[in-house]
This record gives sequence, C-alpha cells and structure tokens, in this order.
Amino acid sequence: MHSHAIEVKGLRKKFGTQVVLDGIDLTVPSGTVFALLGPNGAGKTTLINILSTLVAPGEGSVKVAGHDVVKESDEVKRSISLTGQFAAVDEMLTATENLRMICRLTGLTAAESRRRTDELLKRFDLTSAANKRVKTYSGGMRRRLDLAISLVASCPVLFLDEPTTGLDTISRRALWEIILELKHQGMTIFLTTQYLEEADELADRIAVIAGGRVVANGTAEELKSRVGGEVLELYGDGDEVLRAVPIDGSVQDVRRTLNELAPLYPQHTRVGIRKPSLDDVFVALTAKPGLTTLSKEAMFK
Ligand SMILES: Nc1ncnc2c1ncn2[C@@H]1O[C@H](COP(=O)(O)OP(=O)(O)OP(=O)(O)O)[C@@H](O)[C@H]1O
Ligand SMILES: [Mg+2]
Repeated sequence: MHSHAIEVKGLRKKFGTQVVLDGIDLTVPSGTVFALLGPNGAGKTTLINILSTLVAPGEGSVKVAGHDVVKESDEVKRSISLTGQFAAVDEMLTATENLRMICRLTGLTAAESRRRTDELLKRFDLTSAANKRVKTYSGGMRRRLDLAISLVASCPVLFLDEPTTGLDTISRRALWEIILELKHQGMTIFLTTQYLEEADELADRIAVIAGGRVVANGTAEELKSRVGGEVLELYGDGDEVLRAVPIDGSVQDVRRTLNELAPLYPQHTRVGIRKPSLDDVFVALTAKPGLTTLSKEAMFK
C-alpha cells in the first residue's frame, strides 16, 4: 500500500459560479483515521464524493491509494469503500437480502455471498434482526447495516460521510469501536462528522474546512492548543454560558479578564475555568462574525 492513502493538492471545485472548494491541500497517511469537520454546506460531502470518484474535481490533483481519481478512476474504485451521508439500503428487503445482493453485485458466488453476509451480520451485531425488513430498523441498526454493506469488499480505504449522525450515544460508541478495529486492521478511514467529540475520540488528524479552505489541520491536541491554556466561562441563571474567553491560566490573566468582564455582567454571575475543547476551536475557526464570543483575535493572540 502507498504510504499516503490520500493526497490532495490545490483542489478547486465550482458548482456553476459557486466556488465550493477553493484550494484544498491534504495528505492522509495509510492506516490512520482522518476526520473532516466543517459547518453545513462547507463542502465535506463534495470532497468525499471527489475522493471516491463520484464527482469530478475541478482543478488540482487528487490521488487515492496512489491513483489519480480522474485518470485511474477504476483503480481508485477498486481500492475504496464508501458509506454515504444518506443510507442506500433497500427498505423493503431484510439485512440478509441487502447484503447478499451487494455480495452478488461485487461478483461473489452464491455460497461466498452467504458466508460473507453471515460474517458481516455477526460483526455488526445484526444477526437477530437479520431477517426483518430494514424499514422496521432503528437508526443505529440502519447505520450498522450501511457500514456492513460498504465493507462487503474489503478495501484499504474507507470513506464515511457522517457515519453517526442521528445515533444515540450507545450506538455511536459501538460504531467508534468498529472504526478503530478497522484501523487496527490497517485500513485508512476518512470520515466527516458534525461531532467534535467524535473527531477527538477517533481521529489521528483533523482538518477543519470553512469558506472552501482548510482553516486548521493537525492532531486534536494541536488544535486545542491553539485556543490557549484554559477557557474562562461566565454562566447565567439557567447555567447557560454567557461568555467564554481563552486565557493562559495564570492568576494574573484570570484577574485581568475578570476585571474587564465583571462590570459588564450582573452581580451574581458565576464563573468557571475549564480546558479548551475542540468545540472552542471549531467555533472560533468557522463561526461567522458576531455569532461567537471567542473571537479569532483572541484565539491567535
Ligand atoms: N451537485 C451539486 N450541484 C450544485 N451545488 C451543489 C452540488 N452539491 C453540493 N452543492 C453545493 O455545494 C456546497 C457544499 O455542499 P456539501 O454537501 O459538500 O456540504 P457539506 O459540508 O457536506 O454539508 P452538510 O454538513 O450539510 O452535509 C453547498 O452550498 C451545496 O449547495
Ligand atoms: Mg454533507
């Protein structure tokens, strides 16, 4: 396997006159988990679709598993699995029927299809529901089936577009375990997510895209360290956060910050100090001006 599973250089993509990706550079080492974060409409699905050959890149070079997505799209297709943002299962069929159908479509014999289907049902904890129609499944079961379907052929690179959106905490954690297990088997996983906690938990590296560009790229720790040492928060009556300010954590900085803030808030406003979260980074990097109290200037002071 190529040492870089994914290499994107100078990628630009327009839909009509709308520039969606405006010069993206990314590399993902083989055998790692990479998380792409960004607000709605940032171009995450577009990037996944380009990487998985479903959408043509505009300008730039995009290689997956060492192959160019345009000139060698067949090789790329053979190297990847994809679970899209919206499920592609047949609701009227059972999990067994869905899986067997995909197995047959990928060229397995009937006997191989039965064996592979049973294996996947077991791995994704779907055996007991295997013969029920998918339309009766919960969101978590559907998502597990989606993932099972995308793993029918074992390919070195897996794309997951918002794999856990809409799942409860337990189902989400179960999927995280599966994703980490796949990584330990040597797979490269490129996922998009709306959940900072998910990126924090799973990803070796994280990129944030906003306004068509990569606005941050690094490990979760590197990104958090950009917010500074700690975050001082002021809370209102209903425990809502009135204000969040990055501070260096020193007594002097706490005093200076409180001196500035105290006159602006009611008498009994409470205060707390916590470690920065990936949320702080995300908000500071992607929020539109005026929507957030953590300003970009404060982030990079
Ligand atoms: N086929 C298309 N034709 C025209 N515009 C498109 C097309 N696909 C996406 N877009 C536009 O490109 C932008 C990025 O969309 P995309 O779906 O990639 O965002 P996203 O980051 O995946 O958003 P979400 O978090 O909501 O899934 C949006 O403004 C969208 O309307
Ligand atoms: Mg999307």
